[in-house]
Amino acid sequence: MATDEFVLDTPVVRQFVGEVQVAIAQASSPQQAIEAIRPAFAVLLADADWLPDEYRADAPESGMGGGIGQWLLYRAEDGSLSLFSLVVPSGSQTPVHDHLAWGLVGLYCGTQDEEIYTRQEGRFELKDQRELRPGDFYDLIPPQDDIHRVRTTSAETSVSIHLLTNDTGCVWRHAYDPDSGEARPFRSGYVNAPCEEET
Ligand SMILES: [Fe+2]
Repeated sequence: MATDEFVLDTPVVRQFVGEVQVAIAQASSPQQAIEAIRPAFAVLLADADWLPDEYRADAPESGMGGGIGQWLLYRAEDGSLSLFSLVVPSGSQTPVHDHLAWGLVGLYCGTQDEEIYTRQEGRFELKDQRELRPGDFYDLIPPQDDIHRVRTTSAETSVSIHLLTNDTGCVWRHAYDPDSGEARPFRSGYVNAPCEEET
């Protein structure tokens, strides 16, 4: 029996994760699961009280660079689901990166600018750009729109909430050179939780 890891072990997080698990179990596709999860995710983003300050803090030594903190809140032991906050200080931006798993991402505090990149016929280019405000969220279903970069545009630090169907901080994914599209292996880690060492 797998033991899930509730780093932030509160009724709000347990209820949300429980609803997500039911939605995933009952859905026949990622899109269907996402539709079922949307209402609970919107409620989580609208609730100003459930996320303690420590998970809204930047992290000077983080794997993302720029003081960006990726704080684990929950993960399934089998690596099939994770919930984390991503804290991006004012003016900082993530590398261009992918996620390699479907899920939902939404803004909780501050504002962000998001740039979405695409590979088409061997070319790597900026496909779209959008501004995100608290309460805005979007779904990710790779490979569609899986490569992006986020930058905080508010004077305050931005905090986004990620629900993804992998152990996002610990899987090896990719960071990209935005000009050449060249990929390099990328593992962001979590500020507050280890990744298993690889053999
Ligand atoms: Fe991302």
